[in-house]
Amino acid sequence: KSAAIVGCPFSGGQAKIGVDHGPIHLVKAGLEQQLKDLGWQVQFDGHHQFEEIIEESDPPIGNMKNPRSVSRVCESVAGVVSGHARRGQLPVVLGGDHSLAMGTVGGTLEVYPNACVIWIDAHADINTPKTSDSGNIHGMPLAFLLGIAGNVPEFAWIKPVLRANRLVYIGLRDVDSAEKRILKENGIKAFSMHEVDRHGIGKVVELALDAVNPNRDLPIHLSFDVDALDPSVAPSTGTPVRGGLTFREGHYICEAIHETGLLVAFDLMEVNPRLADAESVRQTVAVGCSLVRAALGETLL
Ligand code: ARG
Ligand code: MN
Ligand code: MN
Ligand code: MN
Repeated sequence: KSAAIVGCPFSGGQAKIGVDHGPIHLVKAGLEQQLKDLGWQVQFDGHHQFEEIIEESDPPIGNMKNPRSVSRVCESVAGVVSGHARRGQLPVVLGGDHSLAMGTVGGTLEVYPNACVIWIDAHADINTPKTSDSGNIHGMPLAFLLGIAGNVPEFAWIKPVLRANRLVYIGLRDVDSAEKRILKENGIKAFSMHEVDRHGIGKVVELALDAVNPNRDLPIHLSFDVDALDPSVAPSTGTPVRGGLTFREGHYICEAIHETGLLVAFDLMEVNPRLADAESVRQTVAVGCSLVRAALGETLL
């Protein structure tokens, strides 16, 4: 049991300052030791330094904001993640904003080409540069990974490594109309909060696994946007949406994926310690750490 914490203090995929502090707070809260206490060997080499690759001048391309910085950071993260995966370590990537998933999922699929992606989020993050209203690239990573983002030369390094039938969502409740169309057109399976209400989280995780991993034999990349949780549970995040997962529902997902024995990479994204009051920040960081522990095998008994 060997894991690597990859701190990614990056915020260029969205507009609010502070999400780059997420990984620093999560590590300060003691995450490394907590994982060691679960029996993992943990490598943490300090937070990834992006200064040198972030572009000073980075004007929009179309409506995409900070495109060159996002692209270079993600390319570099992909290399780090694939390196750890190749050495048999489970990368635990701490964001930073969710644009980083172009790097994390890209890195995972380089080493495990048949891996499936379970995306836990209030949002679908599947806008293309053409459909995005905000221009924030954290709303687009899946479009690039699926190869449906159109031709953006700056992002040419991203290969369309993810197949639509290997992606499933849980927790959606704020999906743009163009994104709804993209999900339909590509036949991508999604379990919104409506399905969580209807079936309960236990059944939803089962159905999600049936959709992307019917024989329970494919590696799993779990990408967890903390805004999937209800804002009462995880208030310190940039794009909170009411009606989210409860504390237990979020943890249940992580526990159940751990139980498959198939988890090969875990992302925890969008913790922003600059938003909300000190107690909310403490609560969000603590929840973040406990989600990671659950995914890496912490049990209640
Ligand atoms: N759909 C919206 C957009 O494209 C919101 C995306 C929020 N994404 C996130 N990773 N929190 O901008
Ligand atoms: Mn700070
Ligand atoms: Mn989100
Ligand atoms: Mn997201």
